[in-house]
Amino acid sequence: MKKYVIETWGCQMNEHDSEKLSGMLANMGYLEIDSREEADLVIFNTCCVRENAEFKVYGNLGQLKPLKMKKRDLIIAVCGCMMQQEHIVNHIKEKHPFVDLVFGTHNLHRFPELLENSMQQDNMLVEVWEEGGQIIEGIPSIRKYGLKAFVNIMNGCNNYCTYCIVPYTRGRERSRKPEDIVEEIKKLVENGTKEVTLLGQNVNSYGKALEEKIDFADLLYKIDEINGLERIRFMTSHPKDINSKLIRAVKECKNVCEHIHLPVQAGNNNVLKSMNRKYTREKYLEIVDEIKTIIPDISITTDIIVGFPGETEKDFEDTLDLVEKVKYDNAFTFIYSIREGTPAAKMDNQITEDVKHDRFNRLLSILHSNMQEINKALEGKILEVLIEGKSKNDESYLTGRTRSNKVINFKGDKSLIGELVNVKVTQGKSFSLVGEIAE
Ligand code: 5AD
Ligand code: SF4
Repeated sequence: MKKYVIETWGCQMNEHDSEKLSGMLANMGYLEIDSREEADLVIFNTCCVRENAEFKVYGNLGQLKPLKMKKRDLIIAVCGCMMQQEHIVNHIKEKHPFVDLVFGTHNLHRFPELLENSMQQDNMLVEVWEEGGQIIEGIPSIRKYGLKAFVNIMNGCNNYCTYCIVPYTRGRERSRKPEDIVEEIKKLVENGTKEVTLLGQNVNSYGKALEEKIDFADLLYKIDEINGLERIRFMTSHPKDINSKLIRAVKECKNVCEHIHLPVQAGNNNVLKSMNRKYTREKYLEIVDEIKTIIPDISITTDIIVGFPGETEKDFEDTLDLVEKVKYDNAFTFIYSIREGTPAAKMDNQITEDVKHDRFNRLLSILHSNMQEINKALEGKILEVLIEGKSKNDESYLTGRTRSNKVINFKGDKSLIGELVNVKVTQGKSFSLVGEIAE
């Protein structure tokens, strides 16, 4: 039996693409292992949202070279968002010519054929498609966690935020048909899945180009009817496209969890405009107010970029002020990083690294103290938890997530893994909760 290692960088979309690659490889009789040394095939599924991720991929490719020298029939494949950029493929051809196969995000379904072809030729095989076209259905996938599964509802993005490379690497927005999505989820549920996360770069614009008149809220109502499914999550919501109908759907659908990931990116209107985000700070705060009024126990999380070109100290303070007003349950924070080919890369008022790092640290300290405060206020509450496994730090503890997507650890028997149980919060920490099973 041939063995493979797959290493994945980046977002859930990429994680899910890796699950599809694993599914195809299982059909080809390959076995997944952890050790590069023992593998016949090594796949790097790459991300290019930030420059750091790119450096890591190059570093890792460098490490593979001696292995390839020792073991000539080892196949090295590189795929994912980075490969959608010509200058990166050229860099790989020049600096890492021992790579066997390069493919992109749009032709993932062609992987079995590409792999076969690359084994039969000595040179590097490169196949990267420019644009997405039709969505390919029916790609098998091997889910990392049977209990929880990612489901793509759409591909690509039309928003062109000026810092972001995704519209260039994932192509235009295309929605999957609702019946295909529902079918996929029903199959997952038959195989033991209790929670699905619906994935899209901008789920709030789901359905726009479909023949059937359907929007994201309608889709949630449909999925909520699937028997045996316990929890529905979704990401990412673009603030410009969120509406009252969707907020009501989150409230009304019994299985849709009380959590909205709503990336703000910045809290100052000039910066938001220059980022091409198409909403103002006032509008964002209005949406947050509406969400909190309709769903009082909602958890709100976000993405924030510090040090966008032209961001002044005063602009940054507006972001801090917005963060204080919203009080986020969690946030992914990013230091702005130049992405070649995006409009922001050419802006001439780039911020120095020192200033970016200083702002990043100040932002983190406010976010973390708010998170601690929010989680502390949960002490004494009883929350529904889906138990995912044993805690990594202490084997006598189980770990799971609340509907609000918070990690909670508590003592319990491992036979409970996979069950939904009520847990009383005994301690709220910045990044997780501690609890005990409630009677
Ligand atoms: N620099 C820093 N952060 C970025 N993101 C996207 N592009 C960049 C960039 N060039 C962040 C955004 C987005 C998240 C997935 O990554 O916050 O929401
Ligand atoms: Fe990138 Fe903006 Fe699209 Fe999100 S909405 S993927 S940040 S362009």
